[in-house]
Amino acid sequence: MKKFLALILALVMALSLVACGSGAASSAGSAAASGSTSAAAGGKVGIAMPTKSLERWNRDGSYLKEQFESAGYEVELTYSDNDVNQQVNDIENLISDGVSILIVAAIDGESLTNVLDSADEAGIPVISYDRLIRNTKAIDYYVSFDNYTVGVLQGQYVIDTLGLKEGDTSKSYNIEFTAGDPADNNAGFFFNGAYDTLKTFIDSGVLKIVSGQTKFEEVATAAWDTSTAMNRMQNILASYYSDGTQLDIALCSNDSTALGVTQAIESDYAGSNTPIITGQDGDEANLKNIVDGKQSMTVYKAVANEAVVTLALAQAILNGETPDEGLTSQFDCECAYDTTSYDNGTGIIPSYLLTPTVVTADNIQEQLVDTGYYTMGTDGYPVAVG
Ligand code: GAL
Repeated sequence: MKKFLALILALVMALSLVACGSGAASSAGSAAASGSTSAAAGGKVGIAMPTKSLERWNRDGSYLKEQFESAGYEVELTYSDNDVNQQVNDIENLISDGVSILIVAAIDGESLTNVLDSADEAGIPVISYDRLIRNTKAIDYYVSFDNYTVGVLQGQYVIDTLGLKEGDTSKSYNIEFTAGDPADNNAGFFFNGAYDTLKTFIDSGVLKIVSGQTKFEEVATAAWDTSTAMNRMQNILASYYSDGTQLDIALCSNDSTALGVTQAIESDYAGSNTPIITGQDGDEANLKNIVDGKQSMTVYKAVANEAVVTLALAQAILNGETPDEGLTSQFDCECAYDTTSYDNGTGIIPSYLLTPTVVTADNIQEQLVDTGYYTMGTDGYPVAVG
């Protein structure tokens, strides 16, 4: 009898697992199944995304919509063209449309205090999605990836690729940093993760920042804009590298800025070497550059899983629960419950942080295609699913 009960329990546990990391479509399906069994489905969910002009948010929006609709919710999804005032207006409309919960990826993490305070007063829970929203008590939870680790992975990639060893100053390399949007709370975490990882080699002179631009504010890129990143790198190349100085590394925090930096290097860099160029997000144009050897790596974040975690969290909140560490046991993808890293100015926001991974030309097939997140085009370049 005991064996039979153990078998039943194992079967129930297996069915309740929300699949993460087994590809976008299947994880959506399994999450939907889990959602319809684990929560009173129904009600309207408001999802506010920053823009369609940065590739990943199109996938975030469609995965989130798919997850919540598959679980029986009505979804109102907005995109605000990277216009802060429009995002405030969009969220005001979601509140007046009577949403039961708000899921918000902020354009500017400091700009939503008033509108989200009004959501709080209306009793609407708010999940800060991917980018931490600051200076409002309205934020109940934060779902993202481990943003500092994104930068650490980029820095470690440089160390591993060049074979840097502490204390070995026999060789030196020239590096330039390109960080993200100062209005995006994530950008500082990405930059600090990379800089802290490389700091020992910067301090010893093994890595030289020839432009002297070492501070986040000096290397930041408003709106993560590709042309802005390109123009800045063109200026740096003209000012510091036109005399034949070699650029060995362009440490870029994400793919939209890496695309601009790569364009600048292709058009304005006279050196014979191909610098190491880092990125983040797995944007299609950058994956093409990785296949073609123009970009070295990207840090991939399976936003399909971020949507699965967000659905499970929202369901628990709407069920009147107070999710904590226990929620992570529903997922078979790596997701840490964190109650120390993200203070939004009003206090620590309990966070669910997924794990980012390094993608290079060597593992694109395994990491992106075999997992179902991309298909491989007949031209040999990956195309995103969803
Ligand atoms: C960040 C996000 C990254 C990055 C950037 C532009 O907040 O976490 O994935 O690409 O925005 O979308």
